[in-house]
Amino acid sequence: LTGPVDTIDAPWWQRRAEELLALSRERGPLYVYDVATVEAAAGRLTALNHVDRVLYAMKANNHPEILRALHAAGVGFDCVSVAEIEHIHAVIPGIDPAEVLFTPNFSGQSEYEKGFELGARVTVDNAWPLRQWTETFAGRDVFLRVDLAFGHGHHSKVVTSGARSKFGIEMAQLESLAALAREHDIRVVGLHAHTGSGVHTADVWSEQLKRLLALRELFPAVKVIDLGGGLGVPERPGQPVFDLAAMDAAIGTVEGRGDVQVWIEPGRYLVAESGVLVAPVTQVKEKGSHRYLGLATGMNSLIRPALYDAHHEIINLDRLGDPASCRYTVVGPICESGDILGEARHLPESTEGDIMLIANAGAYGRTMSSRYNLREPAAEVVI
Ligand code: LLP
Repeated sequence: LTGPVDTIDAPWWQRRAEELLALSRERGPLYVYDVATVEAAAGRLTALNHVDRVLYAMKANNHPEILRALHAAGVGFDCVSVAEIEHIHAVIPGIDPAEVLFTPNFSGQSEYEKGFELGARVTVDNAWPLRQWTETFAGRDVFLRVDLAFGHGHHSKVVTSGARSKFGIEMAQLESLAALAREHDIRVVGLHAHTGSGVHTADVWSEQLKRLLALRELFPAVKVIDLGGGLGVPERPGQPVFDLAAMDAAIGTVEGRGDVQVWIEPGRYLVAESGVLVAPVTQVKEKGSHRYLGLATGMNSLIRPALYDAHHEIINLDRLGDPASCRYTVVGPICESGDILGEARHLPESTEGDIMLIANAGAYGRTMSSRYNLREPAAEVVI
């Protein structure tokens, strides 16, 4: 489990700085992914002793080569829209459709029907679909996404469980849903919970497992318990890597599991460290006490700092090793005051044309990008 781990302190991109510089000089802002880093992360997860199956939450990064590498590593897929399922089928022709778990929320009836038609396993996260569209689910296997009434996450906007989240079925409704399921031969074969994203405490998943196992009283046909994703990655130098061994051990201590399979479905953990965003400096501005370092792309490529105050390390790739003698606010070219990629960053004195690297950008980077201001987000390259 412990093997060599690429952390923010010894990242892959340091070894490949020359290549990244050449790519960005030629092509401007770019997301660059290192597939070996994805494979290493997948290897660590598939080696867990007490987890039977790893799915990848492909909303984090849907680059075809990354999806293929994960499939080859024995990982299945968690999809949240019909388009994501269709994308998987297009990218990996012949994939066993049951390797896909479809976990939509607030979708219309036709999307659930399409999910079944495409052969996915389907998760329902509200009583409404089962009560209003019973015919869609009758005679089928389903997973139920349960709100275990506690949530976690690196920001309030990524807590996906608990009273203030729109996700999951309230525990109080489970008894009546169990009765409805019995009446209409809706077979609840899986229970699912995902409490949030960017979690660093290792005992969250074992706690979920305990609580979901207890619900088998209501749903005796349950064969799978899916503990969701949420495993954090280090964002700053010196921050510890996620303690996978502790998570695994905690899951292993939960009693009464019988022959129920335990699944997890992380997104970030598998891809965050594999990706960087590189972009040239366009201008430098001094204004009052601020020094702005402007890049050729901003929140149109990477919205996480603006949306969640997320921290991404920023490095001047052209001046590795130079003293960090200046303090910059690193910004993009978008017409929004929030288009800030990093505040108060200590960097070497930087100038037009220098290539800046934004680390840990492999998850929720390009997939959350937009064409705001009609500026194309950074393209993607795999090396
Ligand atoms: N499963 C479900 C049902 C989810 O909703 C999510 C994420 C995941 C798995 C994967 O979570 P992960 O392992 O990546 O934390 N855009 C935010 C994260 C939002 C995640 C939403 N759901 C960010 O950039 O931090």
